[in-house]
Amino acid sequence: MELLSLRNASKSFQDHDKKIHAVSNISLDIFSGEMVAIIGPSGSGKTTLLNLMGVVSVPDLGEVFVNGQTTSNLSDTKRCQIRNHFFGYIVQDFALIEEDTAMQNILVPTLYSKQKRTSTEYRFVVEDLANKLQVKDKLKTKVKNLSGGERQRIAIIRSLVCNQQIILADEPTGSLDEENANIVIEFLRELVNKENKTVVIVTHDLNIAKRCDRIFKLTHGTLSAF
Ligand SMILES: Nc1ncnc2c1ncn2[C@@H]1O[C@H](COP(=O)(O)OP(=O)(O)O)[C@@H](O)[C@H]1O
Ligand SMILES: [Mg+2]
Repeated sequence: MELLSLRNASKSFQDHDKKIHAVSNISLDIFSGEMVAIIGPSGSGKTTLLNLMGVVSVPDLGEVFVNGQTTSNLSDTKRCQIRNHFFGYIVQDFALIEEDTAMQNILVPTLYSKQKRTSTEYRFVVEDLANKLQVKDKLKTKVKNLSGGERQRIAIIRSLVCNQQIILADEPTGSLDEENANIVIEFLRELVNKENKTVVIVTHDLNIAKRCDRIFKLTHGTLSAF
Protein backbone atom coordinates (compact mmCIF):
# COMPACT_ATOMS: atom_id res chain seq x y z
CA MET A 1 0.00 0.00 0.00
CA GLU A 2 1.13 3.53 -0.63
CA LEU A 3 2.49 5.22 2.46
CA LEU A 4 1.93 8.75 1.26
CA SER A 5 -0.53 9.95 -1.38
CA LEU A 6 -1.51 13.29 -2.78
CA ARG A 7 -4.75 13.59 -4.73
CA ASN A 8 -5.23 16.73 -6.82
CA ALA A 9 -3.51 18.79 -4.18
CA SER A 10 -3.16 22.53 -4.76
CA LYS A 11 -1.75 25.30 -2.63
CA SER A 12 -1.67 29.00 -3.38
CA PHE A 13 -0.50 32.06 -1.49
CA GLN A 14 -1.83 35.60 -1.52
CA ASP A 15 1.04 38.00 -2.11
CA HIS A 16 -0.41 41.52 -1.83
CA ASP A 17 -2.82 41.77 -4.76
CA LYS A 18 -1.40 38.71 -6.55
CA LYS A 19 -2.36 35.07 -6.10
CA ILE A 20 0.59 32.69 -6.42
CA HIS A 21 -0.28 29.14 -7.42
CA ALA A 22 2.69 27.50 -5.71
CA VAL A 23 1.58 23.92 -6.47
CA SER A 24 -1.30 22.95 -8.72
CA ASN A 25 -3.35 19.78 -8.92
CA ILE A 26 -0.65 17.33 -7.83
CA SER A 27 -1.37 13.60 -7.57
CA LEU A 28 1.41 11.32 -6.43
CA ASP A 29 1.80 7.99 -4.63
CA ILE A 30 4.89 7.14 -2.60
CA PHE A 31 5.45 3.60 -1.44
CA SER A 32 7.23 2.22 1.56
CA GLY A 33 10.93 1.60 0.98
CA GLU A 34 11.48 3.86 -2.00
CA MET A 35 13.60 6.92 -2.55
CA VAL A 36 11.98 9.60 -4.66
CA ALA A 37 13.53 12.80 -5.98
CA ILE A 38 11.71 15.97 -6.90
CA ILE A 39 13.72 18.37 -8.97
CA GLY A 40 12.90 21.85 -10.09
CA PRO A 41 14.36 25.34 -10.18
CA SER A 42 14.07 27.82 -7.33
CA GLY A 43 10.49 29.00 -6.93
CA SER A 44 8.96 25.99 -8.69
CA GLY A 45 7.08 24.89 -5.54
CA LYS A 46 9.40 22.23 -4.09
CA THR A 47 9.24 23.38 -0.47
CA THR A 48 5.49 24.00 -0.71
CA LEU A 49 5.01 20.46 -2.00
CA LEU A 50 7.18 18.97 0.73
CA ASN A 51 5.21 20.89 3.37
CA LEU A 52 1.98 19.42 2.01
CA MET A 53 3.48 15.92 2.02
CA GLY A 54 4.71 16.30 5.59
CA VAL A 55 1.34 17.56 6.89
CA VAL A 56 2.99 20.87 7.77
CA SER A 57 0.44 22.77 5.68
CA VAL A 58 -3.03 21.94 4.38
CA PRO A 59 -3.90 21.95 0.67
CA ASP A 60 -6.50 24.52 -0.51
CA LEU A 61 -7.91 21.81 -2.75
CA GLY A 62 -7.33 18.06 -2.85
CA GLU A 63 -6.16 15.71 -0.14
CA VAL A 64 -3.04 14.26 1.44
CA PHE A 65 -3.24 10.69 2.73
CA VAL A 66 -0.71 9.30 5.19
CA ASN A 67 -0.78 5.55 5.58
CA GLY A 68 -4.24 5.58 4.01
CA GLN A 69 -5.63 8.21 6.37
CA THR A 70 -6.99 11.60 5.25
CA THR A 71 -5.26 14.52 6.95
CA SER A 72 -6.76 17.84 5.90
CA ASN A 73 -9.95 17.49 7.94
CA LEU A 74 -8.09 16.79 11.19
CA SER A 75 -7.48 19.08 14.16
CA ASP A 76 -4.09 20.74 14.52
CA THR A 77 -3.28 18.44 17.44
CA LYS A 78 -4.04 15.32 15.45
CA ARG A 79 -2.07 16.59 12.46
CA CYS A 80 0.85 17.30 14.74
CA GLN A 81 0.69 13.74 16.07
CA ILE A 82 0.71 12.33 12.54
CA ARG A 83 3.65 14.56 11.67
CA ASN A 84 5.68 13.46 14.68
CA HIS A 85 4.83 9.82 14.21
CA PHE A 86 5.55 9.44 10.50
CA PHE A 87 7.95 12.16 9.38
CA GLY A 88 11.52 13.15 9.91
CA TYR A 89 11.90 16.49 8.17
CA ILE A 90 15.21 17.99 7.08
CA VAL A 91 14.12 21.59 6.52
CA GLN A 92 15.84 23.84 4.00
CA ASP A 93 17.22 26.37 6.48
CA PHE A 94 17.95 23.70 9.17
CA ALA A 95 16.13 25.65 11.93
CA LEU A 96 18.82 24.91 14.53
CA ILE A 97 19.18 26.78 17.82
CA GLU A 98 22.48 28.67 17.56
CA GLU A 99 23.29 28.91 21.27
CA ASP A 100 22.68 25.23 21.97
CA THR A 101 25.07 22.37 21.24
CA ALA A 102 24.62 20.04 18.29
CA MET A 103 23.52 17.26 20.67
CA GLN A 104 20.92 19.47 22.37
CA ASN A 105 19.50 20.39 18.98
CA ILE A 106 19.40 16.81 17.82
CA LEU A 107 17.48 15.71 20.91
CA VAL A 108 14.69 18.31 20.55
CA PRO A 109 12.28 15.98 18.66
CA THR A 110 12.67 13.33 21.35
CA LEU A 111 10.86 15.69 23.75
CA TYR A 112 7.71 15.31 21.62
CA SER A 113 8.07 11.65 20.78
CA LYS A 114 5.84 8.98 22.20
CA GLN A 115 8.70 6.49 22.07
CA LYS A 116 9.83 5.51 25.49
CA ARG A 117 13.57 5.48 25.10
CA THR A 118 15.91 6.62 27.83
CA SER A 119 18.24 9.54 27.19
CA THR A 120 21.16 7.09 27.22
CA GLU A 121 19.51 5.09 24.44
CA TYR A 122 18.92 8.24 22.41
CA ARG A 123 22.53 9.33 22.88
CA PHE A 124 23.70 5.97 21.64
CA VAL A 125 21.54 6.34 18.51
CA VAL A 126 22.85 9.87 17.94
CA GLU A 127 26.49 8.86 18.32
CA ASP A 128 26.07 6.06 15.82
CA LEU A 129 24.47 8.42 13.27
CA ALA A 130 27.08 11.12 13.93
CA ASN A 131 29.81 8.57 13.39
CA LYS A 132 28.39 7.59 10.01
CA LEU A 133 28.04 11.24 8.98
CA GLN A 134 31.49 12.12 10.31
CA VAL A 135 30.42 14.74 12.87
CA LYS A 136 30.86 12.74 16.08
CA ASP A 137 33.49 15.16 17.34
CA LYS A 138 31.07 18.09 16.89
CA LEU A 139 28.22 16.92 19.11
CA LYS A 140 29.28 19.06 22.08
CA THR A 141 29.95 22.13 19.92
CA LYS A 142 27.50 25.03 19.88
CA VAL A 143 25.73 25.29 16.54
CA LYS A 144 26.91 28.89 16.09
CA ASN A 145 30.47 27.53 15.79
CA LEU A 146 29.67 24.91 13.14
CA SER A 147 30.22 25.22 9.39
CA GLY A 148 27.34 25.07 6.92
CA GLY A 149 28.06 21.47 6.04
CA GLU A 150 28.26 20.43 9.69
CA ARG A 151 24.94 22.16 10.43
CA GLN A 152 23.36 20.33 7.55
CA ARG A 153 24.49 16.96 8.89
CA ILE A 154 23.31 17.84 12.42
CA ALA A 155 19.89 18.69 10.94
CA ILE A 156 19.89 15.32 9.17
CA ILE A 157 20.64 13.48 12.42
CA ARG A 158 17.87 15.43 14.18
CA SER A 159 15.42 14.25 11.50
CA LEU A 160 16.37 10.61 12.17
CA VAL A 161 16.62 10.44 15.93
CA CYS A 162 12.98 9.39 16.48
CA ASN A 163 13.23 6.71 13.81
CA GLN A 164 10.22 7.79 11.74
CA GLN A 165 9.33 5.89 8.58
CA ILE A 166 9.40 8.76 6.12
CA ILE A 167 12.27 11.21 5.70
CA LEU A 168 11.49 14.44 3.85
CA ALA A 169 14.65 16.22 2.81
CA ASP A 170 14.57 19.76 1.43
CA GLU A 171 17.82 20.26 -0.51
CA PRO A 172 19.83 18.24 2.04
CA THR A 173 23.04 18.60 0.06
CA GLY A 174 22.57 22.28 -0.75
CA SER A 175 25.46 23.60 1.31
CA LEU A 176 27.81 20.62 0.90
CA ASP A 177 30.75 20.14 -1.43
CA GLU A 178 30.62 17.18 -3.81
CA GLU A 179 32.38 14.74 -1.50
CA ASN A 180 30.15 15.51 1.48
CA ALA A 181 27.05 15.57 -0.71
CA ASN A 182 27.93 12.02 -1.75
CA ILE A 183 28.34 10.92 1.85
CA VAL A 184 24.88 12.29 2.68
CA ILE A 185 23.16 10.79 -0.35
CA GLU A 186 24.77 7.38 0.18
CA PHE A 187 23.74 7.55 3.81
CA LEU A 188 20.10 8.23 2.86
CA ARG A 189 20.30 5.50 0.20
CA GLU A 190 21.43 3.05 2.85
CA LEU A 191 18.50 3.94 5.11
CA VAL A 192 16.19 2.98 2.25
CA ASN A 193 18.06 -0.18 1.27
CA LYS A 194 18.82 -1.55 4.72
CA GLU A 195 16.09 -0.17 6.96
CA ASN A 196 13.24 0.07 4.46
CA LYS A 197 12.83 3.79 5.13
CA THR A 198 11.05 6.00 2.64
CA VAL A 199 12.89 9.11 1.50
CA VAL A 200 11.59 12.06 -0.50
CA ILE A 201 14.36 14.39 -1.50
CA VAL A 202 13.99 17.80 -3.07
CA THR A 203 17.00 18.96 -5.02
CA HIS A 204 18.07 20.94 -8.03
CA ASP A 205 21.10 18.67 -8.50
CA LEU A 206 20.47 16.01 -11.14
CA ASN A 207 23.41 13.90 -9.96
CA ILE A 208 21.75 13.62 -6.55
CA ALA A 209 18.36 12.86 -8.12
CA LYS A 210 19.88 10.05 -10.18
CA ARG A 211 20.67 8.13 -6.98
CA CYS A 212 16.91 7.88 -6.35
CA ASP A 213 14.46 5.22 -7.57
CA ARG A 214 12.11 7.67 -9.26
CA ILE A 215 12.48 11.28 -10.34
CA PHE A 216 9.72 13.85 -10.75
CA LYS A 217 10.10 17.40 -11.91
CA LEU A 218 8.24 20.48 -10.82
CA THR A 219 7.65 23.27 -13.31
CA HIS A 220 5.77 26.32 -12.05
CA GLY A 221 3.96 24.16 -9.50
CA THR A 222 3.03 21.35 -11.88
CA LEU A 223 4.47 17.88 -11.34
CA SER A 224 5.46 15.50 -14.13
CA ALA A 225 7.61 12.40 -14.53
CA PHE A 226 11.20 13.28 -15.33
N1 LIG B 1 4.24 31.82 2.60
C1 LIG B 1 4.28 32.28 1.35
N2 LIG B 1 3.69 33.46 1.01
C2 LIG B 1 3.71 33.92 -0.25
N3 LIG B 1 4.32 33.27 -1.27
C3 LIG B 1 4.93 32.11 -1.00
C4 LIG B 1 4.96 31.55 0.31
N4 LIG B 1 5.66 30.37 0.26
C5 LIG B 1 6.04 30.21 -1.01
N5 LIG B 1 5.61 31.24 -1.78
C6 LIG B 1 5.82 31.39 -3.23
O1 LIG B 1 5.42 30.18 -3.86
C7 LIG B 1 6.33 29.83 -4.91
C8 LIG B 1 6.95 28.48 -4.62
O2 LIG B 1 7.81 28.60 -3.48
P1 LIG B 1 8.65 27.39 -2.87
O3 LIG B 1 7.72 26.25 -2.65
O4 LIG B 1 9.39 27.90 -1.70
O5 LIG B 1 9.64 27.06 -4.08
P2 LIG B 1 11.03 26.26 -4.10
O6 LIG B 1 11.18 25.53 -2.83
O7 LIG B 1 10.94 25.38 -5.30
O8 LIG B 1 12.10 27.30 -4.27
C9 LIG B 1 7.32 30.97 -4.99
O9 LIG B 1 6.87 31.88 -5.96
C10 LIG B 1 7.26 31.58 -3.60
O10 LIG B 1 7.62 32.93 -3.65
MG1 LIG C 1 12.63 25.56 -1.35
